[in-house]
Amino acid sequence: MITCSNNIVFRQFCSFSVKMNKAKIESLIVCQDLYYNNKELKNMFAKNTFENKIALVTGGRSGIGYQIAKDYLLMGAKVVICSRKEDLLKKAEEELSEFGSVTSQSCDIRKEEDISALVQHIKDVHGSLDILVNNAGGQFPALAEYINNKGWNAVINNNLNGTFFMTREMANHFFIPQKNGTIVNIIADIFRGFPGMAHTGAARAGVENLTKTLAQEWSEFNIRINCVAPGIIESSGLKQYPQQIQDMFEAAKKAIPMGRFGDVKDVSNAVGFLSCPLSAYITGVTIYVDGAQHLSYDKMGLVNVMKSFMK
Ligand SMILES: NC(=O)c1ccc[n+]([C@@H]2O[C@H](COP(=O)([O-])OP(=O)(O)OC[C@H]3O[C@@H](n4cnc5c(N)ncnc54)[C@H](OP(=O)(O)O)[C@@H]3O)[C@@H](O)[C@H]2O)c1
Repeated sequence: MITCSNNIVFRQFCSFSVKMNKAKIESLIVCQDLYYNNKELKNMFAKNTFENKIALVTGGRSGIGYQIAKDYLLMGAKVVICSRKEDLLKKAEEELSEFGSVTSQSCDIRKEEDISALVQHIKDVHGSLDILVNNAGGQFPALAEYINNKGWNAVINNNLNGTFFMTREMANHFFIPQKNGTIVNIIADIFRGFPGMAHTGAARAGVENLTKTLAQEWSEFNIRINCVAPGIIESSGLKQYPQQIQDMFEAAKKAIPMGRFGDVKDVSNAVGFLSCPLSAYITGVTIYVDGAQHLSYDKMGLVNVMKSFMK
């Protein structure tokens, strides 16, 4: 797609370009008009991009995971969502079924027996799996010196161990025997550490390193694995933080080079790219979806807010 900054200049370019035939020029203008006039450009991909593909989205009942599940459905995949809260999961399944074929299975990614039941569900309903998105996760803000063992282990268990358990099981049951599979891990902006959430920083760094390892170990099985690192994304997860922290995020918005938070669609688009054949030669990498926040943002904001609670 041509993304000329000036519509008139672009049209002049087209009309003076004698080498181009009329059809080519018209198709370029259509693309360019789409870019300028369709602020609601909804999907980067064709509706059949994931036709005949089965995608599992953990934490697919809410926020970022819900949008990822919805976009897979809109692009032709059959989707399985899982999370712990069965009632909310069922509600999400019902809503998502408007967009395509979706099923759900309650599963705590930390529990072996839950994962076994999920594997069985996928085998019974679909017989195979093509894509795993490890999106489920959670953490809480805390100064490192006050994180007790229980809190530390809870976050490491969820965000690192749970992700590994899901990845290993889906690989052993589906991807390795099939010799085909794609995994996308949702991590976070850990580029310069994660002051105020040391536990999740450590867990996500673990997932990122695991991703680099598996990209190499599992290339022989034709399994690709990558990470998406969201910055501050306006989603259900963000709303769970205390008001003072949300206020701090709001104030910090100006410091994000692109001057805005991300939305769930920004993240989903990156996941779509990393799990479709357009990224066939990309494995072991992290895409930051954060408006360049990881390069410039003051990471100590969260710590400063928490210190102010303690005065
Ligand atoms: N929003 C942001 O700014 C942001 C930034 C960076 C990274 N992230 C990460 O992106 C992911 C999605 O975030 P979100 O904003 O969409 O938050 P969210 O709405 O809270 O989504 C988290 C999802 O994970 C599920 N989940 C949590 N623990 C689970 C477990 N042990 N087993 C199975 N499911 C579990 C939750 O469902 P149940 O409660 O039903 O289990 C929920 O659906 C999370 O990993 C989050 O940490 C978010």
